[in-house]
Order: sequence, then C-alpha cells, then structure tokens
Amino acid sequence: MGGAGALLRPAAWKLNQRRDISSWLARWFPRTPAKPVVALKTPIKVELVAGKTYRWCVCGRSKKQPFCDGSHFFQRTGLSPLKFKAQETRVVVLCTCKATQKPPYCDGTHRSERVQKAEVGAPL
Ligand code: FES
Repeated sequence: MGGAGALLRPAAWKLNQRRDISSWLARWFPRTPAKPVVALKTPIKVELVAGKTYRWCVCGRSKKQPFCDGSHFFQRTGLSPLKFKAQETRVVVLCTCKATQKPPYCDGTHRSERVQKAEVGAPL
C-alpha cells in the first residue's frame, strides 16, 4: 500500500469534492432561470409604509402574493424577488400576473388576452 496511489487520493478526493460543489451550485442556482408563472390574473391592492422595504415576487410561485415567500429559491427557479423601498405611505396596486412592464406595479397587462387565456401557475 502507499506509494503513488496514496499521494493521488487526496487530489482525486478534492476533484470529486469540487464536482459535488459545482453540481450542488448548478442545482440550486441554475444558469438559465425559469420563466415566471401567472400567480393571479388580477392585481392586489396593498398599503405600503414609508421607509419599509418589500420583496415583490418575480417568479409567481409565492403563496404570499404579491410578496416573496422564498419559493423562487426552494423551487430552484434561478429568479430573485424585486426588492424596493416605499418612499411614502400609500395604497398601491401590485402586479400578480408577472407580465407588467412596470414591476412591481400593475400596468393593466393582466387584462390582455395573453394573460387572460393563460393558466394560473403556468408561464406566459
Ligand atoms: S396584475 Fe400584472 S399587470 Fe396587472
């Protein structure tokens, strides 16, 4: 025993460990993000409080719409929530169809045929 084999084993172990880490990273942080899915087809009115930071759900998979519940991470979407700070206390209408051009706010896109014909929980 010993000899050259013993000297190579640590290197092989390190190589395997590196492969394990990269496959773990690829699984949890995919390079190609998933498409957002339609959470709802109507926006949600919420009161934002001045100075408070919010995380708007981008992936559409959150059960706490319109805000993030971490589903983007646990479902390995490669997407991240949109973090924003309310400048003033006021009631706003936040998008839940995830097709708005003015995230996180509703811009009326949910009324389009494309969104209305889409299935809830499916990408556009
Ligand atoms: S809910 Fe998405 S644009 Fe209105």
